[in-house]
Amino acid sequence: MYFKTTQEHEELRAAIREWAEREIKPYAFQMDQNNEFPREQMKDFGKRGYLGLPYPTEYGGMGKDILSYAIGVEELSRVDGGTGVILSAHVSLGAYPIFAYGTEEQKRKYLVPLAKGEKLGAFGLTEPNAGSDAGGTETTAELVGDYYLLNGEKIFITNGGEADIYVIFAVTTPDIGTRGISAFIVEKGWEGFTFGDHYDKMGIRSSATAQLLFDNVKVPKENMLGKEGQGFKIAMATLDGGRIGIAAQALGIAQGAYEAAVEYAKEREQFGGPIAQLQAIQFKIAEMATKIRAARFMVYSAAELKENHEPYGMEAAMAKKYASDICLEVVNEALQVFGGSGYLKGMEVERFYRDAKICTIYEGTNEIQNVVIASHILGKAAKASSAPAKAKKKTAVTGPRKNMILKDGTAKERVERLVEALKADGHDFSVGIDINTPIGEAERVVSAGKGIGSKENMKLIEDLARASGAAIGSSRPVAEQLHYVPINRYVGMSGQKFSGNLYIACGISGAVQHLKGIKDAATIVAINNKASAPIFKNADYGIVGDVNEILPLLTAALDDGKAKKPAPPMVKMKRKARKEPAAAPVGRYVCMGCGYEYIPELGDEAGEIAPGTKFKDLPQEWICPECGEEKSSFIPAAKE
Ligand code: CAA
Repeated sequence: MYFKTTQEHEELRAAIREWAEREIKPYAFQMDQNNEFPREQMKDFGKRGYLGLPYPTEYGGMGKDILSYAIGVEELSRVDGGTGVILSAHVSLGAYPIFAYGTEEQKRKYLVPLAKGEKLGAFGLTEPNAGSDAGGTETTAELVGDYYLLNGEKIFITNGGEADIYVIFAVTTPDIGTRGISAFIVEKGWEGFTFGDHYDKMGIRSSATAQLLFDNVKVPKENMLGKEGQGFKIAMATLDGGRIGIAAQALGIAQGAYEAAVEYAKEREQFGGPIAQLQAIQFKIAEMATKIRAARFMVYSAAELKENHEPYGMEAAMAKKYASDICLEVVNEALQVFGGSGYLKGMEVERFYRDAKICTIYEGTNEIQNVVIASHILGKAAKASSAPAKAKKKTAVTGPRKNMILKDGTAKERVERLVEALKADGHDFSVGIDINTPIGEAERVVSAGKGIGSKENMKLIEDLARASGAAIGSSRPVAEQLHYVPINRYVGMSGQKFSGNLYIACGISGAVQHLKGIKDAATIVAINNKASAPIFKNADYGIVGDVNEILPLLTAALDDGKAKKPAPPMVKMKRKARKEPAAAPVGRYVCMGCGYEYIPELGDEAGEIAPGTKFKDLPQEWICPECGEEKSSFIPAAKE
């Protein structure tokens, strides 16, 4: 097979390389250090048309091919992996689903400004309970009149906060698995759509990655992308293409690291000459160059297949997996060539080394790429359990909780109801522990999040801790960035774990990393002014309200004016999770041949069975759409 890029491709590469070396490279270290998004540079990049590289000119794009787009991502990543993924997430994930599935009106309204570079795009699929298992989506979109009401949260979203237009996946029909998911176009600035903290990442720090929060966001009906229930397929098809972008990003990072290593090997002298003359270094260079060449062929080939409308899902997954795997090997060897100098901040290879790792993780971990590749070769693996398992209600990160969230009544009434409930559960507020008790030993903790505001407000936390007989804790940013409490008092996955009886989270939104540190708490109480804050889903009790108002009231309600008696040794209380009502019986039938489930609400489009048709009313000649078994091979999935 002979493969060569065209002169046009190479001219484009030269133009983007020249731009990246001038506009990005000199600032890359600073952007990395400060978590700084190249806002002005991306505007300029957009004005030059590059944010619309593969889209038709009639939609404001540059009208180039997919390979040109891959070259664009590669060239940006060659100087900065973070900038590379901004382009990749915008083109492949934000704009592509609108281009491929949007109505003409949606394309005019959203694709045109995205392709022209006037707006930035993003894609919201990942959630705390839906990562590799993307079908586990829990964000919901409920049709109310002319709007869908969007509620839930998305995590790790590339371009989050910086992007103007988001393609969001949400459940429109619960309990039917992936076929109940739909896609929506959501605009930044809509009421109820907010962003969590910008993640503090190991690498690609010039790119923005944020949590998206949806609290009754009104999405007009006409912003549904594709048909209702088509969302999962849209997400999967979008990711097929997105993987070419990440493969190109990995390729670019590897290329940048390799070039730096070659240059350094020629300059650095040891044993009386440049280290490039040493066979140990020559072999490293030869290995790196070979791997990069192989990866480039795979990435460009997947891009060409997509351009020519040939099947490319497997090839894109292979390219993503291979390019990101060798990228890690290349950055490792490149840093080795640099020796001690490569280990220093400010050196490109040090940044490339950190930027590389994410490529084996996002847009489908490399383990998921293997699932995709194998399913293309061997067919879809039989599921260990059929669709009802998918429909099973996911519990919160902190496990089953009572979720009694107090929103109604005056602030005082809400506080009184909370105190009453806590006392009824057996929490004794006549006893207490020292506020400096180590978190791991504390029976109860009052913890502050960034929502507490200025440092003076820590007085509210201290007062509440004393009144409730608790130790003081915090979220990670409150200790690490704001320094309101010593570092050994932050609670979370990487901090202290709380496994006592009562955790009162004040102004903590509830990032997964924090929740993992309190999952063993017997009772979790949340006080936050955002009703959509994930902490509420993970709490037994909650008050939606301002900490400035609620904390003094709660302190007063718990303070009986007497000094606390020393708490006896802790007796771990039992959790009191809310009892879920038993699932209603449904008329679903499962194929004994392949595990396919017939769901009456959906019917069977391929077999021309209308939605709503009961299993017993299916024609006798109807066969399983997955494996061709006869109707008689089906058994009830749940009690009729
Ligand atoms: N194209 C179109 N449809 C597809 C498809 C594809 N590539 N893959 C699957 N589907 C369809 C199937 O045909 C099936 O349809 P029916 O129900 O009609 O039969 C439906 O989708 C469900 O498919 P599966 O049963 O195979 O789905 P699954 O739940 O087993 O998941 C999976 C398969 C491959 C593991 C998938 O969940 C997956 O790709 N997970 C990884 C998710 C991922 O890549 N996340 C990255 C987030 S984005 C990101 O990281 C961006 C960033 O920051 C830069």
